[in-house]
Amino acid sequence: MYINGKNETLNPPHIDKILEKAKNTHELSKEEIIELLNAQAEPILRLADEIRKKYVGDEIHLRGLIEFSNICKQNCLYCGIRRGNDKIERFRLDVDEIIKIGQKAVEFGYKTLVLQSGEDGFYTQDKMCEIISELKKLDVALTISSGEKTLEEFQAYKKAGADRYLIRIETTDENLYEKNHPTQILKTRFEALKNLKLAGFEVGSGCLVGLPEQTISSLADDILFFKKNDFDMIGIGPFIPSENTPLKDTPAGSFDLALKVMAVVRILMPNTNIPATTAMETLRKNGRLIALQSGANVVMPNVGDYRKKYILYPGKPDEDGLSGRTSFEEKLGSIGRTISNDYGFRKK
Ligand code: 5AD
Repeated sequence: MYINGKNETLNPPHIDKILEKAKNTHELSKEEIIELLNAQAEPILRLADEIRKKYVGDEIHLRGLIEFSNICKQNCLYCGIRRGNDKIERFRLDVDEIIKIGQKAVEFGYKTLVLQSGEDGFYTQDKMCEIISELKKLDVALTISSGEKTLEEFQAYKKAGADRYLIRIETTDENLYEKNHPTQILKTRFEALKNLKLAGFEVGSGCLVGLPEQTISSLADDILFFKKNDFDMIGIGPFIPSENTPLKDTPAGSFDLALKVMAVVRILMPNTNIPATTAMETLRKNGRLIALQSGANVVMPNVGDYRKKYILYPGKPDEDGLSGRTSFEEKLGSIGRTISNDYGFRKK
């Protein structure tokens, strides 16, 4: 909102007070988070940007994303690669193909690789450990995002050299979780996140914004869950309806609300790593740049060749994180940011 031509916002005084408290203590009650999520976005995004700058600086960490299998035993209502979707072409990459993509990404300057897949039983513990130890020879930090595994498997991945693991909680609301994940239960998801910490990983989580029947109150619970568990990475993305799924006709989540949730996470968790998610780019042109100016400090460009087949939701930007890297760097430069040259571990 512009007042007298100046870029000033008019907030009810109690919102200013909540923001002041958050800035000084990085603690908020559930009620205060709800107030923020219902308030005008601009001052919240601005504070998140200020805190991002102060605690994690202007460097952006690029993580090269390799989607290596879209075969999945789970059946999440929103997800385009759910097992019930018989309309998509399935693929899985073998060890050599994955290594080749990793090598290329490293040549293009990536210091972190993220291996992401559906929950595909083809990749046994031994196979995963082989992939991990081969990729680690490339001198990269390595993140895995392949769903729920046993503690033993997590420990084996860690021993083989993996550094980080991502499991979004998606929602902490048990009813909502179990409605949207007919093959999973929330308790097991919590357990997996706990086991990842036990295994010694940097742990990433996050949630979807805009699932049907999701409330502001339940998003506030999600935020408090992230804070309580002090996760090292938090990915927030709006829900986007995907064809051939039960939620195909459900309206997409709100970009602005997802952005606000992300900003509140930054305000409460000043030094965690927060990606500007691809789903944000999908809903809004330059959505990632907006996210990077509202608390985010990480981007995960796709470096694999299979992005056209790894369709969790439609409209994902079809960009190549290899050939497109230079122009992306220029865009980041235009908002005063640089690309980090380190492995991008959380700076506590
Ligand atoms: N819209 C937005 N995000 C989605 N994901 C899966 N399907 C969708 C969708 N339709 C997200 C989930 C998952 C991540 C890899 O992708 O949150 O954790």
